[in-house]
Amino acid sequence: MVSQRTVLITGAAGGIGRAVAKAFAEEGASLVLADLHAPDSDMIRCDVSKEKDVEAACQSAIDRFGRLDVIVNIAGMMIFKPIEELTEQDWQQVIAVNLLSVGYSTKHGFRRMKPGSAIVNVSSVHAVQTTAMVSSYAAAKAGMLALTRAAAIEGKPKGIRCNAVLPGAVDTAMLWDNPNIKSGAETIDPADVGKPEEVAAAIRFLASAEASFVTGASLAVDGGRLAQL
Ligand SMILES: NC(=O)c1ccc[n+]([C@@H]2O[C@H](COP(=O)([O-])OP(=O)(O)OC[C@H]3O[C@@H](n4cnc5c(N)ncnc54)[C@H](O)[C@@H]3O)[C@@H](O)[C@H]2O)c1
Repeated sequence: MVSQRTVLITGAAGGIGRAVAKAFAEEGASLVLADLHAPDSDMIRCDVSKEKDVEAACQSAIDRFGRLDVIVNIAGMMIFKPIEELTEQDWQQVIAVNLLSVGYSTKHGFRRMKPGSAIVNVSSVHAVQTTAMVSSYAAAKAGMLALTRAAAIEGKPKGIRCNAVLPGAVDTAMLWDNPNIKSGAETIDPADVGKPEEVAAAIRFLASAEASFVTGASLAVDGGRLAQL
Protein backbone atom coordinates (compact mmCIF):
# COMPACT_ATOMS: atom_id res chain seq x y z
CA MET A 1 0.00 0.00 0.00
CA VAL A 2 1.40 3.42 -0.89
CA SER A 3 0.26 6.09 1.49
CA GLN A 4 0.28 9.82 0.80
CA ARG A 5 0.31 10.53 4.52
CA THR A 6 2.91 12.51 6.43
CA VAL A 7 3.65 11.13 9.88
CA LEU A 8 5.51 12.98 12.67
CA ILE A 9 7.12 10.61 15.17
CA THR A 10 8.69 11.87 18.40
CA GLY A 11 11.17 9.66 20.25
CA ALA A 12 11.96 8.26 16.80
CA ALA A 13 15.51 7.22 17.72
CA GLY A 14 14.31 4.86 20.47
CA GLY A 15 13.35 1.20 20.30
CA ILE A 16 9.61 1.69 19.81
CA GLY A 17 10.18 4.85 17.73
CA ARG A 18 12.35 3.01 15.21
CA ALA A 19 9.79 0.22 14.85
CA VAL A 20 6.99 2.74 14.32
CA ALA A 21 9.03 4.61 11.71
CA LYS A 22 9.66 1.33 9.87
CA ALA A 23 5.96 0.39 9.99
CA PHE A 24 4.87 3.70 8.44
CA ALA A 25 7.76 3.66 5.94
CA GLU A 26 6.53 0.26 4.72
CA GLU A 27 3.18 1.78 3.77
CA GLY A 28 4.97 4.54 1.86
CA ALA A 29 4.26 7.40 4.26
CA SER A 30 6.47 10.49 4.38
CA LEU A 31 8.17 10.67 7.76
CA VAL A 32 9.29 13.49 10.03
CA LEU A 33 11.47 11.87 12.68
CA ALA A 34 12.17 13.86 15.85
CA ASP A 35 14.24 13.01 18.90
CA LEU A 36 16.36 14.69 21.58
CA HIS A 37 19.27 12.62 20.28
CA ALA A 38 19.26 12.87 16.49
CA PRO A 39 21.82 10.25 15.42
CA ASP A 40 21.65 11.03 11.69
CA SER A 41 20.74 13.85 9.35
CA ASP A 42 17.30 12.33 8.57
CA MET A 43 16.25 13.12 12.12
CA ILE A 44 15.27 16.50 13.56
CA ARG A 45 16.74 17.38 16.94
CA CYS A 46 13.70 18.16 19.08
CA ASP A 47 13.35 18.44 22.85
CA VAL A 48 9.65 17.66 23.30
CA SER A 49 9.62 19.41 26.67
CA LYS A 50 10.07 22.70 24.77
CA GLU A 51 6.95 23.97 23.02
CA LYS A 52 8.95 25.81 20.35
CA ASP A 53 10.78 22.61 19.37
CA VAL A 54 7.49 20.71 19.08
CA GLU A 55 5.92 23.50 17.03
CA ALA A 56 8.96 23.49 14.73
CA ALA A 57 8.66 19.72 14.24
CA CYS A 58 4.96 20.06 13.30
CA GLN A 59 5.76 22.92 10.93
CA SER A 60 8.58 20.91 9.38
CA ALA A 61 5.99 18.37 8.13
CA ILE A 62 4.15 21.20 6.36
CA ASP A 63 7.33 22.77 4.98
CA ARG A 64 8.75 19.48 3.70
CA PHE A 65 5.65 17.58 2.59
CA GLY A 66 2.79 20.12 2.59
CA ARG A 67 0.71 18.21 5.15
CA LEU A 68 0.59 16.63 8.59
CA ASP A 69 -1.71 13.61 8.88
CA VAL A 70 -0.48 11.62 11.87
CA ILE A 71 1.44 12.44 15.05
CA VAL A 72 2.80 9.59 17.15
CA ASN A 73 3.99 10.88 20.53
CA ILE A 74 6.58 8.34 21.67
CA ALA A 75 9.33 10.39 23.37
CA GLY A 76 9.50 9.51 27.05
CA MET A 77 11.80 9.08 30.03
CA MET A 78 11.73 7.91 33.64
CA ILE A 79 13.41 8.99 36.87
CA PHE A 80 13.75 6.26 39.49
CA LYS A 81 13.54 7.70 43.02
CA PRO A 82 11.37 7.33 46.08
CA ILE A 83 8.84 10.16 46.39
CA GLU A 84 10.74 11.74 49.31
CA GLU A 85 13.80 12.23 47.09
CA LEU A 86 12.17 13.64 43.96
CA THR A 87 13.26 17.25 43.43
CA GLU A 88 11.21 20.03 41.90
CA GLN A 89 13.41 19.75 38.82
CA ASP A 90 12.80 15.97 38.59
CA TRP A 91 9.03 16.51 38.67
CA GLN A 92 9.18 19.28 36.10
CA GLN A 93 11.34 17.24 33.73
CA VAL A 94 9.28 14.05 33.89
CA ILE A 95 5.95 15.85 33.55
CA ALA A 96 7.25 18.08 30.75
CA VAL A 97 8.75 15.25 28.65
CA ASN A 98 5.97 12.70 29.14
CA LEU A 99 2.84 14.86 29.44
CA LEU A 100 3.22 18.55 28.53
CA SER A 101 4.89 17.50 25.27
CA VAL A 102 1.65 15.84 24.19
CA GLY A 103 -0.28 19.03 24.99
CA TYR A 104 2.14 20.96 22.76
CA SER A 105 2.00 18.54 19.84
CA THR A 106 -1.80 18.30 20.05
CA LYS A 107 -2.06 22.11 19.99
CA HIS A 108 0.28 22.58 17.04
CA GLY A 109 -1.03 19.46 15.31
CA PHE A 110 -4.66 20.60 15.56
CA ARG A 111 -3.66 23.93 14.01
CA ARG A 112 -2.21 22.14 10.97
CA MET A 113 -4.09 18.84 10.55
CA LYS A 114 -7.02 18.28 8.18
CA PRO A 115 -10.08 16.06 8.76
CA GLY A 116 -9.09 12.39 8.63
CA SER A 117 -5.93 12.96 10.66
CA ALA A 118 -5.01 11.09 13.83
CA ILE A 119 -2.85 11.41 16.93
CA VAL A 120 -1.57 8.35 18.81
CA ASN A 121 0.00 8.79 22.26
CA VAL A 122 2.29 6.20 23.81
CA SER A 123 1.37 5.93 27.49
CA SER A 124 2.22 2.89 29.63
CA VAL A 125 0.66 0.21 31.83
CA HIS A 126 2.08 2.39 34.64
CA ALA A 127 -0.84 4.76 33.96
CA VAL A 128 -3.11 2.11 35.49
CA GLN A 129 -0.96 -0.06 37.79
CA THR A 130 2.52 0.83 38.94
CA THR A 131 5.48 0.04 41.18
CA ALA A 132 7.58 1.96 43.71
CA MET A 133 10.21 4.51 42.51
CA VAL A 134 8.39 5.68 39.36
CA SER A 135 5.64 7.93 40.77
CA SER A 136 6.34 10.91 38.51
CA TYR A 137 6.34 8.72 35.39
CA ALA A 138 3.14 6.91 36.42
CA ALA A 139 1.43 10.24 37.11
CA ALA A 140 2.54 11.71 33.78
CA LYS A 141 1.44 8.64 31.80
CA ALA A 142 -1.96 8.64 33.58
CA GLY A 143 -2.33 12.34 32.79
CA MET A 144 -1.63 11.50 29.17
CA LEU A 145 -4.74 9.29 29.08
CA ALA A 146 -6.94 12.12 30.38
CA LEU A 147 -5.38 14.47 27.85
CA THR A 148 -6.04 11.93 25.08
CA ARG A 149 -9.74 11.80 26.00
CA ALA A 150 -9.97 15.62 26.14
CA ALA A 151 -8.20 15.89 22.79
CA ALA A 152 -10.57 13.31 21.28
CA ILE A 153 -13.54 15.49 22.31
CA GLU A 154 -12.02 18.69 20.89
CA GLY A 155 -10.67 16.84 17.86
CA LYS A 156 -14.01 15.27 16.92
CA PRO A 157 -15.54 18.32 15.20
CA LYS A 158 -12.23 18.78 13.36
CA GLY A 159 -12.26 15.14 12.15
CA ILE A 160 -9.07 14.39 14.12
CA ARG A 161 -9.01 11.18 16.17
CA CYS A 162 -6.85 10.88 19.31
CA ASN A 163 -6.03 7.57 20.98
CA ALA A 164 -3.45 6.11 23.34
CA VAL A 165 -1.64 2.79 23.63
CA LEU A 166 -0.43 1.40 26.96
CA PRO A 167 2.55 -0.82 26.27
CA GLY A 168 3.55 -3.39 28.84
CA ALA A 169 7.15 -4.57 28.98
CA VAL A 170 8.72 -4.06 25.56
CA ASP A 171 12.17 -5.24 24.51
CA THR A 172 13.98 -1.87 24.28
CA ALA A 173 16.80 -0.08 26.12
CA MET A 174 14.25 1.58 28.41
CA LEU A 175 13.10 -1.79 29.75
CA TRP A 176 16.52 -3.31 30.41
CA ASP A 177 17.98 -0.06 31.86
CA ASN A 178 15.15 0.04 34.44
CA PRO A 179 16.82 -0.22 37.88
CA ASN A 180 13.71 -1.95 39.31
CA ILE A 181 14.21 -4.72 36.73
CA LYS A 182 17.99 -4.81 37.17
CA SER A 183 17.66 -5.13 40.96
CA GLY A 184 14.93 -7.79 40.72
CA ALA A 185 12.44 -5.56 42.61
CA GLU A 186 10.22 -5.91 39.53
CA THR A 187 10.30 -9.29 37.81
CA ILE A 188 9.05 -9.97 34.33
CA ASP A 189 8.16 -13.33 32.87
CA PRO A 190 9.89 -13.52 29.45
CA ALA A 191 6.46 -14.45 28.03
CA ASP A 192 5.30 -10.96 29.08
CA VAL A 193 7.96 -9.10 27.06
CA GLY A 194 6.67 -7.81 23.74
CA LYS A 195 8.48 -6.66 20.62
CA PRO A 196 8.58 -3.01 19.51
CA GLU A 197 6.97 -4.18 16.24
CA GLU A 198 3.92 -5.42 18.18
CA VAL A 199 3.41 -1.95 19.66
CA ALA A 200 4.00 -0.38 16.25
CA ALA A 201 1.27 -2.55 14.70
CA ALA A 202 -1.29 -1.30 17.24
CA ILE A 203 -0.20 2.29 16.65
CA ARG A 204 -0.45 1.92 12.89
CA PHE A 205 -3.98 0.51 13.26
CA LEU A 206 -5.11 3.41 15.49
CA ALA A 207 -3.66 5.89 12.99
CA SER A 208 -5.35 4.20 10.02
CA ALA A 209 -8.75 4.63 8.39
CA GLU A 210 -9.55 1.12 9.69
CA ALA A 211 -9.91 2.77 13.12
CA SER A 212 -12.24 5.51 11.81
CA PHE A 213 -14.74 4.98 14.68
CA VAL A 214 -12.08 4.71 17.41
CA THR A 215 -11.24 7.90 19.31
CA GLY A 216 -10.58 8.69 22.97
CA ALA A 217 -9.57 5.06 23.48
CA SER A 218 -6.78 3.62 25.65
CA LEU A 219 -5.54 0.32 24.21
CA ALA A 220 -3.36 -1.93 26.37
CA VAL A 221 -0.66 -3.63 24.28
CA ASP A 222 0.82 -5.68 27.08
CA GLY A 223 0.35 -9.38 26.38
CA GLY A 224 -2.42 -9.44 28.98
CA ARG A 225 -0.35 -8.21 31.95
CA LEU A 226 -3.00 -5.75 33.16
CA ALA A 227 -5.62 -8.50 33.02
CA GLN A 228 -3.70 -10.71 35.47
CA LEU A 229 -4.85 -10.80 39.09
N1 LIG B 1 10.02 -0.24 26.70
C1 LIG B 1 9.00 -0.43 27.51
O1 LIG B 1 8.91 -1.45 28.21
C2 LIG B 1 7.89 0.59 27.58
C3 LIG B 1 6.73 0.25 28.28
C4 LIG B 1 5.70 1.16 28.38
C5 LIG B 1 5.81 2.40 27.77
N2 LIG B 1 6.94 2.72 27.09
C6 LIG B 1 6.99 4.04 26.48
O2 LIG B 1 7.33 3.92 25.13
C7 LIG B 1 8.01 5.10 24.69
C8 LIG B 1 9.27 4.70 23.95
O3 LIG B 1 10.10 4.01 24.81
P1 LIG B 1 11.23 2.99 24.32
O4 LIG B 1 11.00 1.74 25.05
O5 LIG B 1 11.32 3.00 22.84
O6 LIG B 1 12.49 3.67 25.01
P2 LIG B 1 13.81 4.32 24.41
O7 LIG B 1 14.54 4.83 25.59
O8 LIG B 1 14.45 3.36 23.47
O9 LIG B 1 13.22 5.55 23.55
C9 LIG B 1 12.81 6.76 24.11
C10 LIG B 1 13.22 7.85 23.15
O10 LIG B 1 12.70 9.10 23.64
C11 LIG B 1 13.69 10.07 23.43
N3 LIG B 1 13.53 11.21 24.32
C12 LIG B 1 13.71 11.24 25.67
N4 LIG B 1 13.53 12.50 26.12
C13 LIG B 1 13.22 13.26 25.04
C14 LIG B 1 12.95 14.64 24.86
N5 LIG B 1 12.96 15.50 25.88
N6 LIG B 1 12.66 15.08 23.61
C15 LIG B 1 12.68 14.22 22.57
N7 LIG B 1 12.95 12.93 22.67
C16 LIG B 1 13.23 12.44 23.90
C17 LIG B 1 15.01 9.34 23.69
O11 LIG B 1 16.12 10.03 23.11
C18 LIG B 1 14.74 7.99 23.05
O12 LIG B 1 15.17 7.94 21.70
C19 LIG B 1 8.25 5.93 25.95
O13 LIG B 1 7.29 6.97 26.02
C20 LIG B 1 8.04 4.94 27.07
O14 LIG B 1 7.62 5.58 28.24
C21 LIG B 1 7.99 1.83 26.98
